[in-house]
Amino acid sequence: MAQPRILILGAPGAGKGTQSAKITDHFDIEHITTGDALRANKGIDISHLGLEYDTPGEYMDAGELVPDEVVNEIVDEALSQADGFVLDGYPRNLEQAEELESMTKLDLVLMLDVSEDELVHRLTGRRLDPETGDIYHVEYNPPEDDEVEERLVQRDDDTEETVKERLRVYRENTEPVIDHYEDAGALERVDGEQAPEQVWEDVRETIETTT
Ligand code: AP5
Repeated sequence: MAQPRILILGAPGAGKGTQSAKITDHFDIEHITTGDALRANKGIDISHLGLEYDTPGEYMDAGELVPDEVVNEIVDEALSQADGFVLDGYPRNLEQAEELESMTKLDLVLMLDVSEDELVHRLTGRRLDPETGDIYHVEYNPPEDDEVEERLVQRDDDTEETVKERLRVYRENTEPVIDHYEDAGALERVDGEQAPEQVWEDVRETIETTT
């Protein structure tokens, strides 16, 4: 059987990274994430584009979208090397959705539904392990190991002010993408507000029954 090609959608903090890690482990497919790819290239010089900022990091720290030219290239390159994948963080606007259609065919578009109050709480409490990339939350999912707890860091864009801007950008740019897939009858919704393990049960079942 061919490996599944999955798109995971949801607001900032909906649990895309958390569930993508489980999906990639279980189904043995690639995790293609524009957020991680851009964080690894925060300082690259994009001044030749003549846009507002000169590096991806400046857009990210402001909670804005990085220009399509930069992101499209990253995704195109990653998709060309993957058989099965879960794509996380792309497309974030209708132009990117159109671009994606020319790059690959998807087997499943999965949407994690979470209310806005919960999103803010999740993002401001999120912590990352810089050594493993594992995602924690100070309240919902603290690490058991003291050594891990001591080295946890907060993402630069997880401050309350930037989180609010990211949610505004999401409503303006990415909600039309959700409507686009919904109108096409291609969207499978999962209640992302349940406990992580319950969300995973629903995600796994949806993947198994639709791909
Ligand atoms: P990106 O890294 O993609 O961030 P995001 O979409 O804002 O999503 P997050 O990573 O913040 O959240 P998540 O849904 O993965 O949640 P997580 O699993 O960590 O993008 C960052 C920036 O890069 C953008 O702002 C933009 O500048 C740029 N960018 C990226 N892609 C781009 C594109 N295509 N075009 C242009 N620019 C782009 O969970 C969050 C927290 O909640 C964690 O603490 C976790 O432990 C906890 N949690 C998870 N699930 C649950 C649960 N079920 N119950 C309780 N807690 C939970």
